[in-house]
Amino acid sequence: MQAEIIRAPAEARCQEELQRLKAWDKYPRPTGWQISPRAVEKFILGDPELNIKPKYIGDRDRIQVAIATLVSDRALLLVGEPGTAKSWVSEHLSAAICNDSQLTIQGTAGTTEDQIKYSWNYALLMAEGPSDRSLVPSPILTAMRAGRIARFEEITRCVAEVQDALISILSEKAIAIPELERVEYAKRGFNIIATANTRDRGVNEMSAALKRRFNFVELPVLSDLQQEMSVVRQRTQEMLAEHELQLDLSDELVETLTTVFQELRMGQTLDGEQKVKSPSTVMSTAEAVSVLFGGCLLATHFGEGMVNGSHVMRLLVGAIAKEDKNDLESLSEYLETVVKKREGRVWKELYETRRWLKSL
Ligand SMILES: Nc1ncnc2c1ncn2[C@@H]1O[C@H](COP(=O)(O)OP(=O)(O)O)[C@@H](O)[C@H]1O
Ligand SMILES: [Mg+2]
Repeated sequence: MQAEIIRAPAEARCQEELQRLKAWDKYPRPTGWQISPRAVEKFILGDPELNIKPKYIGDRDRIQVAIATLVSDRALLLVGEPGTAKSWVSEHLSAAICNDSQLTIQGTAGTTEDQIKYSWNYALLMAEGPSDRSLVPSPILTAMRAGRIARFEEITRCVAEVQDALISILSEKAIAIPELERVEYAKRGFNIIATANTRDRGVNEMSAALKRRFNFVELPVLSDLQQEMSVVRQRTQEMLAEHELQLDLSDELVETLTTVFQELRMGQTLDGEQKVKSPSTVMSTAEAVSVLFGGCLLATHFGEGMVNGSHVMRLLVGAIAKEDKNDLESLSEYLETVVKKREGRVWKELYETRRWLKSL
């Protein structure tokens, strides 16, 4: 079944790993959790002995704080630049803790309080009046009833009043349903993982009362070349496997592409010798993965089956021009002042295909 679904949820994709962890797990589990915090940590950061693949590459301490927060009374807020794996970590944490990453609210400017608490099936409401049948619980109410994790994506995109509807849920762990003359209390195991983008309307604008109910954990942009290369390589390989494609990714290609991303992001060459103009677009790790994967698709379907710098260049141009076409000038300058001088096959391929810049 799974092969036909474009994207199965984490608990389905990682079912075998979660089974192995359950069998191994001898540590105390918080009420409502299917595995212990230690096992959740192994699930997120990987464990070669148990053959658990790392989901997140980065700082162990931050992940431990995130997991410990979820055992506490406080909710977890993952903050960071776009593409730093906030949603990815949130999905995998909920899959590990309660085998359900689907109780999710996507925050937008149009999110309403109903979507956070509950709403009604209006046909049934008209026919029967307020009843359990006509009540439509929100993902949060469902999570409270079952003692699970609810996810709230991009919370800062919601208007302040809607965000503040969470305050009473988080402090009282209950939702009042006056129409049914009832209060629903959260079962143990319930908590919320929210994510917020530092590029959006800021986290600073959240009300002080709401901020106090969250522990903030920042997921940083990876500045270490080797670490970022492992993410780019691993995620691209996973995506190739999901699409049943076989293609060799050369270390040289992964290293060159990741270097391009780091140098454009930081505004200087890795050796610190030369300044580079940074594009206004976010040069995120996630974007590097999609550029490389896009290059792989070009190579598979229109090339000789070997992905090279020229394939990658075509995707890179689109990724950089996404927000502002003027960003292509930064890329063009980078090609002329940095890439041109570099030795190595992939650097040369990037430089030689600079004509793609003019194609947009
Ligand atoms: N440090 C990292 N470790 C593992 N994967 C990462 C890392 N940083 C980014 N990624 C990858 O980037 C992709 C995008 O992440 P996402 O969670 O959508 O970003 P965000 O929600 O922060 O904008 C995911 O596929 C994830 O695997
Ligand atoms: Mg996200």
